[in-house]
Amino acid sequence: MQIAVLKEQNINENRVSLTPDLIKIFQRLNLDVLVQDGAGITSGYPNELYLEGGAKIVSRKECLNSDICLCVRIPEENDLNNLKQESVLIGILNPYENKKYLNTLNNKKIISCCMELIPRISRAQSMDVLSSQANLAGYRSVIDAAEQFGKAFPMMMTAAGRVNPAKVMVLGVGVAGLQAIATAKRLGAIVSATDVRSATKEQVESLGGKFIMVEEEEASVGETEGGYAKEMSEDYKKKQAKLIAETIAKQDIVICTALIPGKTAPTLISQDMVESMASGSVVVDLAVEAGGNCPLSELGKVIDHKGVKILGYANVPGRVAKDASALYAKNIFNFLSLIVNKEKNEINLDWEDEIVNAVVLTENGSIRLEQFK
Ligand code: NAI
Repeated sequence: MQIAVLKEQNINENRVSLTPDLIKIFQRLNLDVLVQDGAGITSGYPNELYLEGGAKIVSRKECLNSDICLCVRIPEENDLNNLKQESVLIGILNPYENKKYLNTLNNKKIISCCMELIPRISRAQSMDVLSSQANLAGYRSVIDAAEQFGKAFPMMMTAAGRVNPAKVMVLGVGVAGLQAIATAKRLGAIVSATDVRSATKEQVESLGGKFIMVEEEEASVGETEGGYAKEMSEDYKKKQAKLIAETIAKQDIVICTALIPGKTAPTLISQDMVESMASGSVVVDLAVEAGGNCPLSELGKVIDHKGVKILGYANVPGRVAKDASALYAKNIFNFLSLIVNKEKNEINLDWEDEIVNAVVLTENGSIRLEQFK
């Protein structure tokens, strides 16, 4: 079978779905690798590296006509219409926002697989794109903050005097938040963090951060059975806002990562709170694409609000595109290993497998996932 790597068309997308170092392992699955001309350029992988790795450089049309097509974001309608009948499309297809494409995928009987829907179970960790990308976003958020911050992170004792360490607060301690804490600690900052899930206390402390949390009955049940955060009561939100307001005025950097799956991100920092921070402070809103944890953040912009910079960069994993692409490609390979039968040289979808069941959006002309029917 042929597997093809599409060049991303979205202006905000500079990642690529396969990196040259992985071509050999894809070939071990009995796959011929085709790469669209220039597909890796924006992530630091020129055509030559793909050629050296054993891939063939081809046109977009040839890519679309292969048995398996890889992408980061779903291609436009006219591209979907040019996909090979009954072929496989794998990417972060975002069906919540791309429902309009479902008919086309069904008309062509495409097996479409959404990598962001990989279940959060131990067996699927190596395929989990949300984690691999959030981890890099958490890292990059601190680097972006450091770039905008006019002071140093670590404490320095110099002959000319003492430089005080930066104070960093992380709101939301999921995968991105944990990496932000670790990165800020490595740079020498004093780090505190908060989350509605009390289980995160131990994780924050193991990284050397200080955990602050609303001491509440409700906080001990701040998560769903699946381990995700849930929306908290109005009373809890008021107490949390008071706690954050008291802490934030003393912070130099705030990294916002709080999300509730399937909902708008919770508002955690008000305009007043931002105005209580010293001029020169930085807020990074990693939740901006889901509405933001700070109402002042704007997608794709750096806002200066009374001397406080508020960073709302889009696609933060794409700001570390080389590593983000490599991890994404590895996630895809691990998923492919589950659905490619290399002996028979065919796609084998085992509907008994909970990973396959959670990820395949359309197949044989119909929508498989209940929530998108
Ligand atoms: P996420 O990206 O959905 O949310 C980020 C963080 O924001 C979460 O820790 C959440 O509790 C927190 N948050 C939500 N509302 C908040 C509020 N009002 N105030 C403060 N914090 C708030 O989280 P992510 O990284 O996707 O992790 C979610 C869960 O999935 C965790 O339990 C994590 O351990 C689990 N997980 C499991 C994996 C696996 O087993 N394969 C892989 C990665 C994560």
